[in-house]
Amino acid sequence: MKKIVVLISGSGSNLEAIVNNCNSNNINGEVIKVISNDPSAYGLKRASDLGIPSKIIDHKKYNNRDDFENSLEKYLDQLNPDLIVLAGFMRILGSKITNKYLKKMINLHPSLLPKYPGLNTHEKALSNSDKIHGISIHFVSSELDAGPLIAQGIIDLKKNDKLDEVINRIHTIEHQLLPKIISEICKGNIYLNQSNEINYLNINLKNQKILKIKYEL
Ligand code: GRF
Repeated sequence: MKKIVVLISGSGSNLEAIVNNCNSNNINGEVIKVISNDPSAYGLKRASDLGIPSKIIDHKKYNNRDDFENSLEKYLDQLNPDLIVLAGFMRILGSKITNKYLKKMINLHPSLLPKYPGLNTHEKALSNSDKIHGISIHFVSSELDAGPLIAQGIIDLKKNDKLDEVINRIHTIEHQLLPKIISEICKGNIYLNQSNEINYLNINLKNQKILKIKYEL
């Protein structure tokens, strides 16, 4: 059973989806700890309700980014996780920690990267009248939202889509695709090789370079 650590900053709905999939044995892993940089994150309440231990490492209590990251790194080292999942974790991590955990750290981002790194991705997709939108899951490098891409979930945008409808649809596909990818990583079916390229085993990519799934919602 793989040891998974989930980093959050907010609501934690993806955390809940991951834990539920571990509990129903869809993922051969266990969330051993939730770490939040925000003491008021609702995800901490979800963790407690789900019986998952949590730890607050509040970035505001550190003088600078390096001190915060050193503390986070030290704590992660102690936990010795097989996989670290950034699920709505709203801090950018520097190269020391991301290099150390490159093969073990994944991020969920709500856009079809390389489109729209950073914030307000749904607003941007809507205001540009994009026809499709979606989510990306990637290994984490020190560049913002730019590590090796593992998978994308895609939805159509409809003409008069409202922001909250889009957010709901995006959440729905996040809660399906993120646990699926975590499950494949835990099985050893997705990994970064020595040249830092993604390898897929037993996964039908349908002639695509990365796993892309279209959702009809
Ligand atoms: C998700 O939409 C994720 O893509 C983005 O932040 C949101 C987190 O949601 N980075 P939750 O905290 O998992 O509910």
